[in-house]
Amino acid sequence: MKGIVLAGGSGTRMYPLTKSISKQLLGVYDKPAIYYPLSILMLADVREIALIVNPHEREAFQELLGDGQQYGVSFEYLVQEQPRGIADAYNVSEDFLEGSSSMMILGDNFFYGYELPKRIRLAKEKNIGATVFAMQVKNPQRFGVLDIKSPDQVPVGIYEKPQNPPSNWAVTGLYIFDGNAPKYTKNFKPSDRGELEITDLISQYLKENKLAVEYLGRGTAWLDTGTPDGMLGCATFVKTVEERQGFKIACLEEIACRRDLISTTKMLEQVNNYPDCPYKDYILDVLEGGL
Ligand code: G1P
Repeated sequence: MKGIVLAGGSGTRMYPLTKSISKQLLGVYDKPAIYYPLSILMLADVREIALIVNPHEREAFQELLGDGQQYGVSFEYLVQEQPRGIADAYNVSEDFLEGSSSMMILGDNFFYGYELPKRIRLAKEKNIGATVFAMQVKNPQRFGVLDIKSPDQVPVGIYEKPQNPPSNWAVTGLYIFDGNAPKYTKNFKPSDRGELEITDLISQYLKENKLAVEYLGRGTAWLDTGTPDGMLGCATFVKTVEERQGFKIACLEEIACRRDLISTTKMLEQVNNYPDCPYKDYILDVLEGGL
């Protein structure tokens, strides 16, 4: 399974912060926002990852993340000429995917929770069509929302930003699709808000009876770094957890070693070249302490 991080978009909600830099490159506490969704794909053992970026931001992403070798994965940069909606990611990445199934995450989504990576890895193994991850929210009108039949929580519909939400279960920005996704999105037309909607792609799988929903419980944190308030809330959350536990959230070097994507010796060699800083000290501590 390949991975996609959707890191394009115009970032208008964060202007002027985003006038000269992508919102995914802005800092969320002690690391760039993009580290958080990337960490989820790496924790899910997805190793071939495409980052979909705006034409003028490609270089900056490449400078930050390189080709991924330093984390034992591979990064490819795919340019999206115009922000045409989330489902457009599958038009942009058709050649990259080569018919493979994929896990896609939105560049401004943040996930954190006990055993969440394990849950995502299991969902990946079980996937037969599409899998979405749902969370209960206070304001479902702002999201893609599931209509669910009780008592077995079977999904029967999905609606993008409904005025009268059929439930409070929002579809989060983490998706798994089989290799057919680009075949469907090719024929999509823009919605009333001018976007190729990810809910249309999910609906397609629902119609074919091939949609699985992973209902994430209240112990999971699903946050958004795509607005000034979201960013600040997320930064505070990360700071609070990191300060209390002494472990960093989304330290890509640590994940690469813990998931055996790269040897500890190789990582130590690389990290020794980092400038002296608390981030470097953390990685050295973690690696030298044994994994
Ligand atoms: C998008 C999707 C929506 C999903 C949300 C998750 O919304 O269209 O279905 O629930 O991401 O973050 P948007 O970011 O376009 O408002």
